[in-house]
Amino acid sequence: MARSTSVFVCSACAAETPRWMGQCPGCGEWNSLQEETRGKVPGRGATPARVAATKPLRLAEVQAQTYERLTTGIGELDRILGGGLVPGSLVLIGGSPGIGKSTLTSMALGNLEGAGRRTLYVSGEESAAQIRLRAERLPGAALQVPVLAETDLDTVLATLEAERPEVCVIDSVQTLHASDLSGAAGSVGQVREVADRITRLAKARGIAVLLVGHVTKEGALAGPRVLEHLVDCVLQFEGERERTYRTLRALKNRFGSTSEAGVFEMRQDGLVEVLDASARFVGEATRAPGSVVLAAMEGSRPLLIEVQALVSESDLEIPRRVVSGIDRNRLALVLAVLARHGGVGVGTSDVFVNVVGGVRVDEPGADLAVALAVASAARGIAFAGEDAPPLACFGELGLTGELRTVAHAERRIAEARKFGLQAIVTPEAGTLRAALRTLRREAARGPREIATV
Ligand SMILES: Nc1ncnc2c1ncn2[C@@H]1O[C@H](COP(=O)(O)OP(=O)(O)OP(=O)(O)O)[C@@H](O)[C@H]1O
Ligand SMILES: [Mg+2]
Repeated sequence: MARSTSVFVCSACAAETPRWMGQCPGCGEWNSLQEETRGKVPGRGATPARVAATKPLRLAEVQAQTYERLTTGIGELDRILGGGLVPGSLVLIGGSPGIGKSTLTSMALGNLEGAGRRTLYVSGEESAAQIRLRAERLPGAALQVPVLAETDLDTVLATLEAERPEVCVIDSVQTLHASDLSGAAGSVGQVREVADRITRLAKARGIAVLLVGHVTKEGALAGPRVLEHLVDCVLQFEGERERTYRTLRALKNRFGSTSEAGVFEMRQDGLVEVLDASARFVGEATRAPGSVVLAAMEGSRPLLIEVQALVSESDLEIPRRVVSGIDRNRLALVLAVLARHGGVGVGTSDVFVNVVGGVRVDEPGADLAVALAVASAARGIAFAGEDAPPLACFGELGLTGELRTVAHAERRIAEARKFGLQAIVTPEAGTLRAALRTLRREAARGPREIATV
């Protein structure tokens, strides 16, 4: 006998309770429990069917599998995926609205279609006419990609069965709706069900699926956490809609490394890979007070990015701390160390820090760049002369003012040298105070090249 049951699922942590509560017992969030009906649950007393046991195999007896990768024709995307799409795998691509998720996936499908692969673009967000409009401005065979504008999960699965594409895009997982489940499309239960059923079909039929996902206000992937466990690969599209540069990075990858990231530029004809990102950022870097170049690592690739700071007198009781491209708490830490161990206090001033180009840096190696940019801005003195190359730096700041080594120091230095940056401050300076002192000494040696702080 089958019957339906009701459960209450937390929209924050996906914990389940049999009855409604004001506060989630799992994560403590208030008013986050939503009712869901579960259909076809075997009733009590139903006898389980007899199931034959399976003999487990020793790993050495398991046939090793080599994955044939499908090249998307977008070099950066292929590299981040670990060499291309794996048949039967699920890739979740998250990113804020308008960042370019549909553009990237349309381009990938267009290239695959052009290479003779069977593709399908399923959109629950846009009409076929809207998708065509986008495809018109994209290169390659984007206009040849078969499209299905549909939100009903059963119809989508039936179409996938009938069409048997090799690669499919679902844009987005939040818009599909399973009719046998209550709850609006995009609710925790719906997203989980949609992802689960697509996964099963994709694995059974060897379809590589690119699943587009929404992000929350805080920038995390929307939907239940279980979604991230379910898929093989999670890619995050970062950057700001209004800026040209966007970064794509892997947060999880069952078929490759998660340290890879790629930089893209949004243009009229779609997203273009930026392979010479360092050259562009250094070329655009100002030599004004408050500017330094950070020798960062984007995955396994070094990248030179300009970090700018502005320190100005505040008219507020609690001065502003505004950041773009770095973590706000990290700025608080850097300012505290700078005041306590660097002799540069900005307690009563507004501080703005910006990583130029809309790039986001999440590594601790950015600390020193932020500290030097703020110190330079606070004193109103530039680190580099008008005609000299900008100052490069990297290093993590410890709470006692020491500089800590970060990974790939040689590659960061090599990248800086490659672009003609001679003055480089590294963790070898020892402490923040010593780094500031070195800059002062360098200034004495080559006036106008590097000024004192
Ligand atoms: N003609 C154009 N020239 C340059 N850029 C464009 C043009 N048309 C659209 N764009 C850019 O493409 C972006 C939209 O891309 P896309 O639709 O792929 O984003 P998305 O991440 O799928 O958004 P959503 O979450 O709303 O689905 C716009 O924000 C805009 O920056
Ligand atoms: Mg879209």
